[in-house]
Amino acid sequence: MTLPPNVWPSGAVRGADGAVRIGGVDLRDVAAEFGTPAYVLDEADFRARARAFREAFGAAFAPLGVEVDVYYAGKAFLCTAVARWAHEEGLRIDTSTGGELAVALRAGVPGADIGLHGNNKSDAEIARALEVGVGRIVIDSLDEVDRLADAAAARGDGRRAPVMVRLTTGVHAGGHEFIATAHEDQKFGLSIAGGQAMAALRAVLERPELDLIGVHSHIGSQILDPSGFEVAARAVLELRAELAAASGYLLPEVDLGGGFGVAYLPGEVPLDPHRVAKDVAGVVDATCADLRTAPPRISIEPGRAIVGPTTVTLYTVGTVKPVTVDETLTRTYVSVDGGMSDNLRPALYGARYSAAIVSRHASSRAVPARVVGKHCESGDIVVHDADLPDDVTRGDLLAVPVTGAYGRSMASNYNLLTRPPVVAVRDGVARVIVRRETEDDLFALDVG
Ligand code: LLP
Repeated sequence: MTLPPNVWPSGAVRGADGAVRIGGVDLRDVAAEFGTPAYVLDEADFRARARAFREAFGAAFAPLGVEVDVYYAGKAFLCTAVARWAHEEGLRIDTSTGGELAVALRAGVPGADIGLHGNNKSDAEIARALEVGVGRIVIDSLDEVDRLADAAAARGDGRRAPVMVRLTTGVHAGGHEFIATAHEDQKFGLSIAGGQAMAALRAVLERPELDLIGVHSHIGSQILDPSGFEVAARAVLELRAELAAASGYLLPEVDLGGGFGVAYLPGEVPLDPHRVAKDVAGVVDATCADLRTAPPRISIEPGRAIVGPTTVTLYTVGTVKPVTVDETLTRTYVSVDGGMSDNLRPALYGARYSAAIVSRHASSRAVPARVVGKHCESGDIVVHDADLPDDVTRGDLLAVPVTGAYGRSMASNYNLLTRPPVVAVRDGVARVIVRRETEDDLFALDVG
C-alpha cells in the first residue's frame, strides 16, 4: 500500500520491509519506546507548512507593497515546542484563551508577537494580555470596548492597548462551499450589516487608552473554496473605507482569519496557499483601488493547514470482529487502543479519515472495515470506511493520518483513558514533546 502524499506527512515513507518511517523514524520503534496510542508529528513538515504560508502570502502581497503577518492558530494544537517552531519560522501565535496565551509565553514567544481572541474574555485574561503587552486583542463585543479601555487605564502606565474589532461579514464558509447570508445567528463578531461593527469601531476610537490597529474576519474552517475569502475581504475593506470617510481614520491592518482546508481522504485536494494568497491579493488590490484607499497590512491565522497533515495517530490493533451488515456485506470491525478521546472529530462532525497498517507488508486484498475505539459507546468511530487488508490482525500497528489539528487539542479523558503523548520526529530522532498522561495525573486532579 502506497501512502497518498496529500494525507501523509511529507516525511512519511514505506520501507522495503513494509514498515512506515516518518522523519526517518520507524513507527514500530515509536510504538516500542513510547507505547500506543501516540500522536506522531513530523517536525520538518510542520516547519515547511508554516514557511509555505508565510512565503505564499508574502509573495502575493509584495507587489501591492503590503506586508503579511501569519499567526499560527494555537487552538489547532499548541504546546511549547510547537509554539517555538512556529515562531522560529517567522510566525506569530494566535491564542483564544488564557491557557493558550500562557503556553505561547512559556515557549518564549514575546507578547508583542501574540494575538488574543475570545468571545468571553475573563478579567484575568485581559489583565494578563495587557501585562505581557500582546500585539493585539481582538474585541468581540461592544461591552468589551469599555472593559478593555478601563483595564488599560487601570494599569496606569499610559500604554495604549492595541486592538482589532472582529467583524461578522455575512459569509459563512466551510466544507466545500460558502454561503453568503444577510444575517448571522451565531456568537462571534460584530455584524457589519446590523451596524454593531461600526458602533464598536467608533466606540474604540473614543477611548484614548485603545489603539485601533484594524479589523478581523474569520469566516469558517476547513474551507476548500477560496471565493469565501474574497467576498469577506471585499466586505471588510468596504467597511474600512466607510470608517475612513466618516472619521478620517484609515485602519492600518486587516486580518482575514484562518480556515484553510486540508485533504482528509486520499482523493481530496487541499486548498493551495499560493492560489488563495494570489486570489485574495487580487481582490484586496482591486477593491482598494475602487475605494481609493491604500491597501492595509494583512494578517491571516491558519491552524489546521499547518499542523493537521503533519501528524498521524499510531494505534495498536486489538480485536478484529466480522459483523454481518446484510446478506451482501460483512464489515470487519477493527478495535484500536484509543478512540473518541484522542480524536473527537468523527463523533462530533462526522469527519472522515483513512487508515493504514504501518508495521508490515499487508495483504493486497482489501476488506470493508471500520476502525473503532475502546470507549463505551457505539459512536466511538475512528475511521468510518477503511479499506484494510484482509489479514489485519491483533498486534498490527495502524496509523490514521491528518490528526494533527483538533486531535490532541480536543482530546478528553472520557472513560478515564489517559491522553496520548505527542512524539515529534525529525532526522531519525523521536522526542516526546507532550508526554502521555498517567494514572497519577488522573489522581492528581481527583482530590477525594
Ligand atoms: N482564527 C479564528 C478566529 C478561529 O476561530 C479559528 C478556528 C482559526 C483562526 C483557525 O482555523 P483553522 O485554520 O484551523 O481552520 N474544532 C473544529 C475547528 C474549529 C475551528 C474554530 N476556529 C474542527 O475540528 O474542525
